[in-house]
Amino acid sequence: MKLYSCCFLIIAYFLLTISCSIAKDLPGKDLFYNSKGKHGSCNHCHVNGNSAGRWDFEIQKIDEEDGKKIPSLKGIGKRKDEEQIIRSIHLMKKMFSFKLTDEQISQLAEYVGTL
Ligand code: HEC
Repeated sequence: MKLYSCCFLIIAYFLLTISCSIAKDLPGKDLFYNSKGKHGSCNHCHVNGNSAGRWDFEIQKIDEEDGKKIPSLKGIGKRKDEEQIIRSIHLMKKMFSFKLTDEQISQLAEYVGTL
């Protein structure tokens, strides 16, 4: 009986740590790839955190030559503090009509900071 409950505890412990690590890892990343704005997810323009090129505000498309350079987000966590990143994401939300809560924006900022 003792052995049995011991095994149960060990299994429960592993299930708990696995589910905690999933819950901790995913929300920002998931939002990055799956949140829906007017032009798709963040990944549409910041492909895996890299720049997809330039964003042409006139034709509303990614372009090689015209428009505003889409910045790469790689290493942004070292260049900017979290508050600045949050401010940029608020801007993204407004410009590209993302439906994001403040909590989701914090989660995105946390994820983007690890790129
Ligand atoms: C339609 C294209 C597009 C989409 C979609 C988009 N971005 Fe951007 N992003 C840009 C452009 C263009 C800039 C540069 C804006 C500027 O400098 O005014 C930018 C800037 C940023 C910056 C600031 C980078 C820096 O170096 O200061 C962050 C952070 C960012 N985006 C994150 C996101 C996140 C997170 C999402 C998803 C919620 C997202 N972006 C969706 C085009 C896009």
